[in-house]
Amino acid sequence: MKKLLYHFDTDAIPSVFDSVVAYDGGADHVTQLAGITPENCYSLVEGAIYTRAPKHKKNTALFVGGSDLAAGQELFAAVQKIFFQKFRVSVMLDSNGCNTTAAAGVALITNSTDVKGKTAVVLAGTGPVGQRAAAMLAMNGANVRLTSRKLDRSQQSCELMKQQFDVDLEPMVASDDDTIAAALDSAHIVFGAGKTGIQLLRADHWQNHPTLEVLADVNTAPPLGFEGIDMMDKNEDRFGKRIFGGIGVGALKLKLHRACIGRLFESNDLVLDAKEVYQTAESLL
Ligand SMILES: NC(=O)c1ccc[n+]([C@@H]2O[C@H](COP(=O)([O-])OP(=O)(O)OC[C@H]3O[C@@H](n4cnc5c(N)ncnc54)[C@H](OP(=O)(O)O)[C@@H]3O)[C@@H](O)[C@H]2O)c1
Repeated sequence: MKKLLYHFDTDAIPSVFDSVVAYDGGADHVTQLAGITPENCYSLVEGAIYTRAPKHKKNTALFVGGSDLAAGQELFAAVQKIFFQKFRVSVMLDSNGCNTTAAAGVALITNSTDVKGKTAVVLAGTGPVGQRAAAMLAMNGANVRLTSRKLDRSQQSCELMKQQFDVDLEPMVASDDDTIAAALDSAHIVFGAGKTGIQLLRADHWQNHPTLEVLADVNTAPPLGFEGIDMMDKNEDRFGKRIFGGIGVGALKLKLHRACIGRLFESNDLVLDAKEVYQTAESLL
């Protein structure tokens, strides 16, 4: 029986990246649908849950993507509300690669140091990847600061992650030398989650920092998030700190994304969000 993946994208144009990875992850056929919302998804979900016998339902799965994490979360929740009893299929949320990218970066960090009780800073953490990275670091016992150029944006992201995962994050501003210094004060871990091609830290912000131990940056387009690192860095020692760059993280992200797609077809009742994707990342290391 063919493994069918229905990709519900909240954007007007569905993601090519997610389509390629879906095939590489084991789907036999991927159907990408654009502009999907909680209001228009009902008949699509019905089509997925009513069409195959119980023992064959694991061969149908749903993937929620798109650039807007808040819209993705709403759609992800709406899809699951339509499921009942055994009328369900496995479903995964990964808007803008939020869960797979964050999980890969955080798993690499936790694999190189015990984050429990340490202070972690997610710089420019208001995007899909940063929000999830902050939540995952907090789930691992770190005290997490989430920064933005604007305090109200970081507050909003912290509240969203509190609602979703019951994690307490500290909203902070990081927009100039003084606020960056305050955000990094006594910190041990930095996760750079800024928009592609945006430098978040100059070399002098981190290279001689007295407490920083591990830095991970997921940006893969120059200029990189942290001046003085290489995007290929994977647990590279620089200035006494462990460094992970965008491709260093990205290799695991891709492997993880494929593994999660493969898992969707193992049973008809998997729900893959931050926690489950993070656990899968750990299992790959
Ligand atoms: N390595 C991989 O495998 C992989 C996979 C997927 C994504 N990525 C990368 O992950 C990163 C995060 O992705 P995303 O979708 O979460 O990011 P995003 O939403 O595009 O941006 C994240 C945040 O960057 C901040 N920002 C935007 N313009 C800025 C500027 N001029 N100066 C300083 N900060 C600025 C914004 O925060 P505020 O407005 O709140 O300040 C924004 O919320 C991107 O670099 C993306 O390329 C990597």
